[in-house]
Amino acid sequence: MSRMAQPTIATDHGHSIDPARAPRDTALAIHGLTVSYGEKPAVFSVDAAFKAKGMSAIVGPNGAGKSTLLKAALGVIPRLSGEVYVFGETIRDARARVAYVPQSASVDWDFPTTVMDVVQMGLYRKVGLLGRLSGPVRAQARECLDRVGMADFANRQIGQLSGGQQQRVFLARALAQDADLYLLDEPFAGVDAATERAIIGVLKSLKDEGKAVVAVHHDLATVRDYFDHVFLINVRRIAEGPVETTFTTEHLQATYGGRLAATHLDELAVADGAR
Ligand SMILES: Nc1ncnc2c1ncn2[C@@H]1O[C@H](COP(=O)(O)OP(=O)(O)OP(=O)(O)O)[C@@H](O)[C@H]1O
Ligand SMILES: [Mg+2]
Repeated sequence: MSRMAQPTIATDHGHSIDPARAPRDTALAIHGLTVSYGEKPAVFSVDAAFKAKGMSAIVGPNGAGKSTLLKAALGVIPRLSGEVYVFGETIRDARARVAYVPQSASVDWDFPTTVMDVVQMGLYRKVGLLGRLSGPVRAQARECLDRVGMADFANRQIGQLSGGQQQRVFLARALAQDADLYLLDEPFAGVDAATERAIIGVLKSLKDEGKAVVAVHHDLATVRDYFDHVFLINVRRIAEGPVETTFTTEHLQATYGGRLAATHLDELAVADGAR
């Protein structure tokens, strides 16, 4: 048999990975993930599967563990237990295929960096540090800024932008990475309606290109318009599946408890027959 004909087997530190637990057509497969900062887990025994093509929302109240879930999936914070696979590989092996846009409030820019520098950071993994000096790389970065409507701000210091403008620059950096899985933590937080439309346009075009987009999302009123898959979490996984069948009054009630008024729930969750 020729070498070419042999199937490649994904491994984790030399141990082969069970393909049933790590399907290659699943962008992010999570099994029994538990993360704890102290005694009480922030994320408890969570299973999730985000498909390779499509737009998924992660929905849950403040403190539900949404950001923690993303960070643990990325390996940025340690997990207490559980397995995470990205396109059938460990996150270590698949890191270059994942772009991450953190929750905006978590970044504080008090040193001088231009918008262009920030976007070019997204290209380093592909072109190496010296690549930043080349014309084509600058052109590519500029194109990504253009896609989010920020090309005019290329030479501005990142700290001198509004929150919504910074958010768009981070999205441009993620675009520059040319990833297959985009993890976004509240990409619409604190942005105006026009910016939200611009961002959702970019995310939908990523989906149309066959990429996986997973976004933490707080605005329950737009879940149906923006996403095709939803994952509801409150420390534990509450429900996951297609928006039409999963984004229901019952599941929202289980996720938010008494925090949402019944009338509000009825307006939002038209899946269970009210449409
Ligand atoms: N670095 C940390 N150290 C200790 N506890 C933390 C830390 N980060 C988060 N937590 C706690 O873990 C829990 C989950 O936090 P997380 O940030 O994942 O929530 P979230 O669902 O993203 O909330 P939000 O909607 O407010 O962004 C919260 O109770 C939070 O207080
Ligand atoms: Mg968060």
